[in-house]
Amino acid sequence: MKIRSLVMLACTVFSVHASLADDKITQSDYQRPEAVPAPESNPLTEEKTALGKTLFFDPRLSRDKSMSCATCHSPDQRWSDGRVVPLGSEELSQPRRTPTVMNSAWLKALMWDGRAKSLEAQAVLPITTPHEMNYNMKELVQRLGEIKGYEPLFESAYGDAEINTQRIAMALATFQRTLVSNTSSFDLWVNGDEHAISSSAQRGFQIFNNEAQCAACHKSWRFTDDSFHDIGLDSPDLGRGKVIPVEVTIMQHAFKTPTLRDLPENGPFMHDGSMSDLEEVIKHYEDGGIQRESLSKEMKPFELTEQQRTDLIAFLKTLDGGSLDIDPPVLPME
Ligand code: HEC
Ligand code: HEC
Repeated sequence: MKIRSLVMLACTVFSVHASLADDKITQSDYQRPEAVPAPESNPLTEEKTALGKTLFFDPRLSRDKSMSCATCHSPDQRWSDGRVVPLGSEELSQPRRTPTVMNSAWLKALMWDGRAKSLEAQAVLPITTPHEMNYNMKELVQRLGEIKGYEPLFESAYGDAEINTQRIAMALATFQRTLVSNTSSFDLWVNGDEHAISSSAQRGFQIFNNEAQCAACHKSWRFTDDSFHDIGLDSPDLGRGKVIPVEVTIMQHAFKTPTLRDLPENGPFMHDGSMSDLEEVIKHYEDGGIQRESLSKEMKPFELTEQQRTDLIAFLKTLDGGSLDIDPPVLPME
């Protein structure tokens, strides 16, 4: 394959963005969408959501029945786990922090390195990964078939009680699509309520889009370009560089731009959980990160005053819509 096509391959989830200088970013660039998207092959239904929610919280999806999806994507941890490295990953040489699954309906590439293409495709990975749920789909299908209480759930979701890998994955994907950020004070401001956020946060919004150029990568209502960048962190993990041919320099050390909505108060932040407060994050961007060939062109050092840093943090905090009220499901009986 030629380099040119490799670069195109690496860039399939790149979104083209206009230069910030000639195209001023305004509040309306951050308007929330009205509906939750779902693929035609797996439309959102209440019945599938109910089944998916039950599966998501059921530890019987793991071999030793100790771990559910919600163990690591927990409602009270903003659908992540609050840990620097996930449970069970102590043996791994380069474990990655658990991302949130909120707003995952809009994800164009999944995992820190984009190796999964859809929520449906992703759902099987944690079930079968050894340091996660460590199971296999064949035995899982059999185990769920022996749990009487699952029969009516599969039946109402799909019309009959057959259990198979695809149905499990489609239900998990559907439930996750319903996990959408609550309206934040920033959203109210975008919709015209001038007093919804403080004047410090309003100044922070300008800094985010202008002086600090955060919006070069954190754009749209989810504050991500769904693309991958090396932001110059001191981590040996090659990220997308491991799934894309090595000739594509800009993908070495590149990770997916995470959303900035609903950030946990004290991190951990970044793919390696290496930062724990927003001031530290901002100072990293001011310094510009480790200079290396793969470093993103959008990483340009700059300097903020103490007041500007405070304003930027005040703005980031307005993106918090609070936790989602979800009643954990009643797990079906054997
Ligand atoms: C042991 C902890 C753990 C468990 C259990 C777990 N996950 Fe995850 N999840 C992770 C980690 C860590 C990542 C990121 C991995 C990576 O990028 O290499 C992740 C990534 C994801 C993503 C991609 C999010 C994004 O922004 O790209 C989705 C969706 C997801 N998990 C759903 C699930 C579902 C569904 C289950 C249950 C079937 C599950 N997870 C079980 C830790 C866990
Ligand atoms: C070059 C693109 C780019 C620019 C510019 C950029 N970011 Fe990021 N941001 C990323 C990527 C990629 C990550 C994840 C990096 C990793 O973990 O290796 C990230 C991570 C973060 C995180 C951690 C989120 C989490 O869930 O772990 C925060 C907070 C953040 N950025 C805020 C900002 C702010 C504030 C600015 C402006 C000062 C900014 N970013 C500028 C691409 C960018």
